[in-house]
Amino acid sequence: MKRFILIFLVVPLFLNAQNNEESKMQWFKDAKLGIFIHWGLYAVDGISESWSFYNGYISHEDYLKQTNGFTASEYNPKAWAKLIKESGAKYAVITSKHHDGFALWDSKDGVFNAVKHSAAKKDVLSPFIKNLKKQDLKVGVYYSLPDWSYNDYTHHTKEIKRYKISDEPERWKTFLNYYQSQLKDLKSKYDPDLWWFDGDWEHNAEEWDIEGTRELLFKDRPNVILNSRLCGNGDYATPENGPPVLKPHAKYWELCLTMNDSWGYQEIDQNYKSTQQILDIFTDCLHMGGNLLLDIAPKADGSIPDIQKNILKEIGRWNKKHAEAIYGSEAGIPKEYFNGPSTLSKDKRTLYLFVRDIPKDGKIILKGVKNKINRIYIVGNGTVVPSKVYSKIYWSQYPGIHYIELPKNTLDQYYTVLAVMLDGEIELYRDHHGAVESN
Ligand code: GLC
Repeated sequence: MKRFILIFLVVPLFLNAQNNEESKMQWFKDAKLGIFIHWGLYAVDGISESWSFYNGYISHEDYLKQTNGFTASEYNPKAWAKLIKESGAKYAVITSKHHDGFALWDSKDGVFNAVKHSAAKKDVLSPFIKNLKKQDLKVGVYYSLPDWSYNDYTHHTKEIKRYKISDEPERWKTFLNYYQSQLKDLKSKYDPDLWWFDGDWEHNAEEWDIEGTRELLFKDRPNVILNSRLCGNGDYATPENGPPVLKPHAKYWELCLTMNDSWGYQEIDQNYKSTQQILDIFTDCLHMGGNLLLDIAPKADGSIPDIQKNILKEIGRWNKKHAEAIYGSEAGIPKEYFNGPSTLSKDKRTLYLFVRDIPKDGKIILKGVKNKINRIYIVGNGTVVPSKVYSKIYWSQYPGIHYIELPKNTLDQYYTVLAVMLDGEIELYRDHHGAVESN
């Protein structure tokens, strides 16, 4: 009886919490594409962002000299936001402060920021965020917990640690107060929809006072989204650069990805993925029900390199054409059924197949779908395409193999998307079938 009462009390609480989580995460789950922006001092010399001095490739002193080259003279926040909108992304995440401690906004404390300590002499964060909001894009703020330049932070470089928290607890408190005040400052100025933390690996949850940080972020803003780089205390996982091979276990996740091999602008790094390759990764994320956070790296003058602009525009063209298969979609069907990425509409009555390479007979194979297929059309131009079922025996449950024909004149340069309209929610054949007992 006691157990029954307990279940009676606990289950509704659990379901309620789950509903709250789902409604809070809905915009994020539906968004599918976000743009990451790494903009900071490191773009001046084109060196690895913050890590270059941490790892001892350059002295801290020389690293800081880059403040003289951080001019933002060509910076056009309106054009940035417009370009992001054009790419089809629904949100952007910008580095308000990387591990080097350089703040892009006019930080209240004035410790180390673009206004007081760089050639730009201006707040370069506020106008961008204003323009994101104007474009109806969700606002994400990246914030590095470690600040290797700040004198009361424990780590300075790989070799130099300033102190141990156990030896100087008061000094650590000064740091905690500094970073949490910066968060309050950012929160009151921008009220972001999402916080993207980084660098949690240098301390544990207790040392960072993650509880206090969460409290201050959720105060009056219970629906704000946090990534999980708060020693795991966030809403979604952030696999980095390697596109997942297997579907991640986390319910919500976002792959962050560089276009070349660097987060920040490095002239020398021309190892860009092609639009096709980026779409290969993006469609894989869609297939597994996750998001892609694609990085751009503006130069120190604030201009965005043409190659990055072109990738965003190309992706934007493709996204616009195939919007119904992308935004708000659910993860697709296993690759045993269709040998490529796929998604499902929210009601699971339309299956979208992403076709990259066209087979030599021009026919796409779909197996094991038990539903009746009402119609198959090409997304973005509406052409209805013929399909034929083979190996279907009328008295057997086995659904046969569909061969879908793709006329050559309907092909997209990257992925052609087929919408397979079903007579109900998708049902996949999962039986093992053996001998045919009657003919
Ligand atoms: C890593 C790197 C950092 C980069 C981030 C982006 O944590 O330390 O430099 O900004 O990934 O995901």
